[in-house]
Amino acid sequence: MATIGVIALDRSGGEVQLMSSLIRALSAGIYRHVAKPLMFRHPPDSVHTSTVKLGMIVQKSGLLRQLIKHLWAYRNDTYLAQDIAGLHFKNPVGLAAGFDKNIQLPPLMEAIGFGFMTGGSITNRFCAGNPRPWFHRLPTEKSLVVNAGLPNDGSRTITRRLAASKRPAGLPLVVSVARTNDAQTASDEAGIKDYLDCLKQLGDKAEIIELNISCPNTFGGEPFTEPVKLNRLLKGVDRLKLTTPVFVKMPSNLDWLDFQKLLDVIVKHRITGVTISNLQKNRAGIDISPTIQGNLSGKPVQRSSDRLIRQTYRQYGRRLIIIGVGGIFSAEDAYRKIKFGASLVGLVTGIIYQGPQLVGEINCKLVELLAQDGFNNIQDAIGSEA
Ligand SMILES: Cc1cc2nc3c(=O)[nH]c(=O)nc-3n(C[C@H](O)[C@H](O)[C@H](O)COP(=O)(O)O)c2cc1C
Repeated sequence: MATIGVIALDRSGGEVQLMSSLIRALSAGIYRHVAKPLMFRHPPDSVHTSTVKLGMIVQKSGLLRQLIKHLWAYRNDTYLAQDIAGLHFKNPVGLAAGFDKNIQLPPLMEAIGFGFMTGGSITNRFCAGNPRPWFHRLPTEKSLVVNAGLPNDGSRTITRRLAASKRPAGLPLVVSVARTNDAQTASDEAGIKDYLDCLKQLGDKAEIIELNISCPNTFGGEPFTEPVKLNRLLKGVDRLKLTTPVFVKMPSNLDWLDFQKLLDVIVKHRITGVTISNLQKNRAGIDISPTIQGNLSGKPVQRSSDRLIRQTYRQYGRRLIIIGVGGIFSAEDAYRKIKFGASLVGLVTGIIYQGPQLVGEINCKLVELLAQDGFNNIQDAIGSEA
């Protein structure tokens, strides 16, 4: 197992690291040969619901959280820790939006070893989502077809819950905010008001806000991926004078010139960074029945996301902090995004296909890759191959 090689880099606790690497390798094997085949016998929607429920039960036990952390999480502050936008990240690997829609799993995500997590997307009002099914698996493509339509309990319920819950230290929470998916928000004015009401409701409950302007499968489409309309939305966000850093979640299907037009708007506002990118809408060359609606996660997002990260970094440097998302299944995938310009990376589909130990595996191998290239800390690698 490649991750075992990292023990050579450890200045202390080499035996412990060897043991952790072996345990992660064993967990990956069990996930691949036992857990995944069992889960994949059931529809993805019900597996997702059961996984969230099970996670909520498991995370209640401090003992189980500690066990999970000892088994899977990997920590190396020297190489992986960094401060971004006034926040401390113990490692660059985060959960991307869409898995924990109601933000119920921060303690578990911290135990698994994520350096940050994105909850949501949440919306101002409760949203039931699109008619089921929301998800389809495409195992040969390492992808999911997603057509959830932003189901969530709504910002009032979720912020109340966040206020009442004890959040784990050391896990910055990004809250993804989208426009409520119904007819009432279909006009641009109503859509902007809906976003702003949600942000006001959220207050200081998030460490970072991610404005999801690029959810492809919702009522009224994606009006705010058009520069003039995005400008109006961001003017409204400016007026709120938020102290929380705001990122914009970008679409993956624009060519560079159109993408750049959005970035040119974004840099004129109080926006800290961009998350690149959302789901892949281009289904060309992918064998899916036309009756299955939705857009693609995982591997089909990888190339466009890498390309847009690289071009964004070349053009804007660190004026826009980049969270690189799309098709991360290994440390090499994460490292490529970092070298192209991402300061942080996020994933969803990778843990579904490869298991939760993947987070620790990526962090462990990242240290090896950074050291091989002569970098002392991840900050030195960001944009080194842009
Ligand atoms: C099951 C699922 C649900 C998702 N829901 C959301 C969402 O609510 N909001 C959002 O911004 N992105 C959502 N996404 C997109 C992901 O955040 C991410 O941008 C995309 O899947 C690419 O990353 P991945 O290849 O690691 O999955 C979802 C993705 C998946 C797989």
